Amino acid sequence: MIKRIRRLIFATSATLMLLTSTEVFAHAEHCEDTELGDLMKSMKDDLKGYVKGFKQSDQKTMQKHLNELIADSKNARTLMPLKYESQSETSVNIVRYQEGMDKLVELLYELKQAGDDNSAIKPLLAEVKKASKKGHDAFRKDCD
Ligand code: HEM
Repeated sequence: MIKRIRRLIFATSATLMLLTSTEVFAHAEHCEDTELGDLMKSMKDDLKGYVKGFKQSDQKTMQKHLNELIADSKNARTLMPLKYESQSETSVNIVRYQEGMDKLVELLYELKQAGDDNSAIKPLLAEVKKASKKGHDAFRKDCD
């Protein structure tokens, strides 16, 4: 029972942390629709799905969304951010973007290994948020 309540409290705070995170999700205003942007939107949905699954102690749902998130992140690594659309694939900026995506994929695999271990999941989700903010600060085109 106590474990259930603690899980619920954690899941609720994790949901709030992710949903209120302007860095991860607040992209209502963006430059234009891109394939990368669409993938990122789907990543956002899967991250939400993962947290929802956690809230319901539903490992199957958690792992399903995590697998999707990993696949989309790997795919996103192969695309060019709009900000650098005219640059060569070997430019230093693109390589840095790819390194940022590699870091994200690494964290997602760690999340997979964490299974349903509450104490491991929480700091990993915080790191995913950090990696995402760092990526968006550096690589999203400023269209204002
Ligand atoms: C789980 C982590 C992440 C989530 C949930 C996420 C989510 C999003 C969302 C919702 C958008 C806006 C899409 C749109 O409205 O068109 C976006 C855009 C973008 N994100 Fe992420 N993101 C994540 C991680 C990252 C990382 C690690 C990087 C870079 C290393 C990154 C780079 C970008 C770029 C460059 C765009 C703009 C799209 C473009 O240039 O075409 N994101 N992201």
